[in-house]
Amino acid sequence: MRKEIPQSEIEKQLALCAKMKAEATGARYALVDTYGCQQNEEDSEKLRGYLAAAGYEMTTDEYLADVIIMNTCAVREHAEQRVFGNLGALTHTKKAKPDQLIAVCGCMAKQPEVVDKIKRSFPLVSLVFGPDELWRFPELLQTALSHKKRVFEPGSGDGCVAEGVPHLRTDTVKAWLTVMNGCNNFCTYCIVPYTRDRERSRRPEEILAEAKSLAAAGYKDITLLGQNVNSYGRDLGGETDFASLLRAVCAIDGDFIVRFMTSHPKDATEALFAAMRDCQKCEKHLHLPLQSGSDRILKAMNRHYDSEKYLAQVDKLREYVPDVVLTTDIIVGFPGETEEDFEETLKLIERVRYDAMFTFLYSPRPGTKAAAMEDTATHEEKQERFDRLVETQNRISEEKHRAYVGKTERVLFDGKDKEPGILTSRTLGGRLVRVEAPETMIGSFAEVKITDCNTWALRGELA
Ligand code: 5AD
Ligand code: SF4
Repeated sequence: MRKEIPQSEIEKQLALCAKMKAEATGARYALVDTYGCQQNEEDSEKLRGYLAAAGYEMTTDEYLADVIIMNTCAVREHAEQRVFGNLGALTHTKKAKPDQLIAVCGCMAKQPEVVDKIKRSFPLVSLVFGPDELWRFPELLQTALSHKKRVFEPGSGDGCVAEGVPHLRTDTVKAWLTVMNGCNNFCTYCIVPYTRDRERSRRPEEILAEAKSLAAAGYKDITLLGQNVNSYGRDLGGETDFASLLRAVCAIDGDFIVRFMTSHPKDATEALFAAMRDCQKCEKHLHLPLQSGSDRILKAMNRHYDSEKYLAQVDKLREYVPDVVLTTDIIVGFPGETEEDFEETLKLIERVRYDAMFTFLYSPRPGTKAAAMEDTATHEEKQERFDRLVETQNRISEEKHRAYVGKTERVLFDGKDKEPGILTSRTLGGRLVRVEAPETMIGSFAEVKITDCNTWALRGELA
């Protein structure tokens, strides 16, 4: 059910921030630690926006921080373990600074088992709130700070749309722009539909206004975010869709790139491919998570496509955008995956030849359907498959990168590399290019000649 938070409610939150700021004596510091996906990165910008409005300065020093917020991810067990480990380590900072407020939010904070565990085993945490309570963070913060009691607000399960929450963006070149939240797909392995609730889209006029202000502020790389952008607009009465939104964002004046993620293969349309072809500003890249190449496993995953349909989409996309960069996600070791299933995956990736791939070992998530399915392969077998997959993809990535050498690409410089004197940049297809260039070029476009490469990146020089 689509629930819009009235503007007056957000104004109340902002008024609370102003009050906290006015009442503050001396400097106060906040640390927001982000785990997980870009959605979470964007949520953290909103938390920082509220905190800045409440007079907090941002810090990365956990001993200096008056408020520490862990914005967590629940997509795999490993991410959760990291959060619990880091929470445990905060015992020291809390001891040194007893007034320090420690909060946990994000996807873990929506899971009942996690909330219980925090209640029982992490008394140092005094505020827990789910992703859909973020819009009223100032109120929750104030209660936790003033009542000296623990606040637990995981959320009711009704996703909402909240406009007007301020952002504090630290990057000056790249900006995240959420177009929708939530997920309706219930892939059997995935926790997201449980933590982020049902799909709801922001209104196109709100998105366009934000995109315009980002372009006017000088951002050069805007990424439209949603768990499944291809179903954008379905809850808005169907008068708009993602392809139209993409065209409208790309039509805004200015020199910038428009990226987007993530696209569910069952919903990718020819209209999207046509928009990618027609819009000069749109990245020539599609992240199209395959998850598995085995039709049997895809069915068990509830993905609503098979290998044939997936391949037909890739072929169609390549008709529209011949040199498109394709990336994907693969899960290895889903319950019941056999050697034959895995070989289907290998066959499919040899056929598609992705530019890059994110590979994950299946991690059972409590409450999902797959968590109750019987698992037959051993950990060693799964690890062996994982290694073979990575090896295969590394070879393909390197071959695809090798084909760039000698070519000239237009790139956007977006930051400094670890190597002194080197900047990082991205092609329109999103490939990373390291280039020797002055720092003043960060935020500008340039033609770069590709001179070398490895599995993960390209090397170039200013042309
Ligand atoms: N185990 C392993 N990987 C997962 N992903 C999502 N849920 C799980 C899980 N339970 C992966 C999928 C998704 C990416 C963001 O994370 O590949 O596309
Ligand atoms: Fe993002 Fe999913 Fe992790 Fe939530 S669980 S932070 S939506 S990746």
